[in-house]
Amino acid sequence: MDDDDGFDDIGDSTRSVHAGSSPEQVTGAKVEPIFQTATYVQSDFAEHSGYEYSRTQNPTREALEAAIAELESPGEPAHGIAFGSGMAAISAITQLLKAGDHILAASDLYGGTGRLFDDVLSRFDVETTYSFLGEGDLEELARPSTKMLWLESPTNPLLNIHDISALADKAHARGWLVVVDNTFASPLLQRPLELGADIVVHSTTKYVSGHSDVIGGCIVVRDDVLVERLAFLQNTIGAVPGPLDCFLTLRGIRTLALRMERHCDNAEFLAERLAEHPAVTRLLYPGLPDHPGHEVAKRQMRRYGGMISLEVEGGEEGASWAPR
Ligand SMILES: Cc1ncc(COP(=O)(O)O)c(C=O)c1O
Repeated sequence: MDDDDGFDDIGDSTRSVHAGSSPEQVTGAKVEPIFQTATYVQSDFAEHSGYEYSRTQNPTREALEAAIAELESPGEPAHGIAFGSGMAAISAITQLLKAGDHILAASDLYGGTGRLFDDVLSRFDVETTYSFLGEGDLEELARPSTKMLWLESPTNPLLNIHDISALADKAHARGWLVVVDNTFASPLLQRPLELGADIVVHSTTKYVSGHSDVIGGCIVVRDDVLVERLAFLQNTIGAVPGPLDCFLTLRGIRTLALRMERHCDNAEFLAERLAEHPAVTRLLYPGLPDHPGHEVAKRQMRRYGGMISLEVEGGEEGASWAPR
């Protein structure tokens, strides 16, 4: 049930606290232990434990993957696939493509994603076109080789909003995979799989882990073929997170609902006041009614997140007071 602040307090808070959690089998430990091991002894090959080598399977990582999957897809089974950074997760997704394929990407993506597309994938003959993507733009920008639509919403750093369900419908009609980087929303503010995305990716370094002490990434998918392929890539490329990082991220998730509520409260408070500030020439926050994406954001997000972008009088010089 939504209350006045837009959060489903019972569902989201409780889910954040318990997602992916089940008592550890040997001791009944409530919290998933840090399984800091590279290998697992196979005492009886007839009864394989399911665990051989931690690049391939690790219980702490599995608990994290289950938690993020539950938050992104509470109503329907989904799988999380965790990585050592957001970029490692993004890179693994691009390995679904082959030479000659084309990505249609939202402009103003996180710079590191653009760097991967332009400076690395291009060397393997995978090209990317960037554009602000209104619904009608897909026809114009589509190529026979287009295989993937890559969205961020809100984007980093300008907080552009893309209409995920409208774009996903159009992309699916052409047989493309739809990827949404949900880092700037978190699963508590926006659930792209419910809006039609095929693949959701997070830099868990940000809201999800929440304490600036761990780098991580995670993909969430529902489709079994994608799960199998991405789990194969996780193991084959090997950019997996360590068990301690998984534990820290999981612990961060337990307070995600509380933190997101405070982030949104603070950003809304600041955005309203900064918009009136004489030194601010342009303020971008999707929660403000004059933001060009406000109506779409209202439809697809619970609230608008903790990030604000602004331009100040005098440009960079004018911001020289700002901490660097
Ligand atoms: C939207 C977005 N996606 C992906 C990344 C990359 O994540 P990481 O730094 O965990 O590799 C970032 C990092 O800032 C980001 O802001």
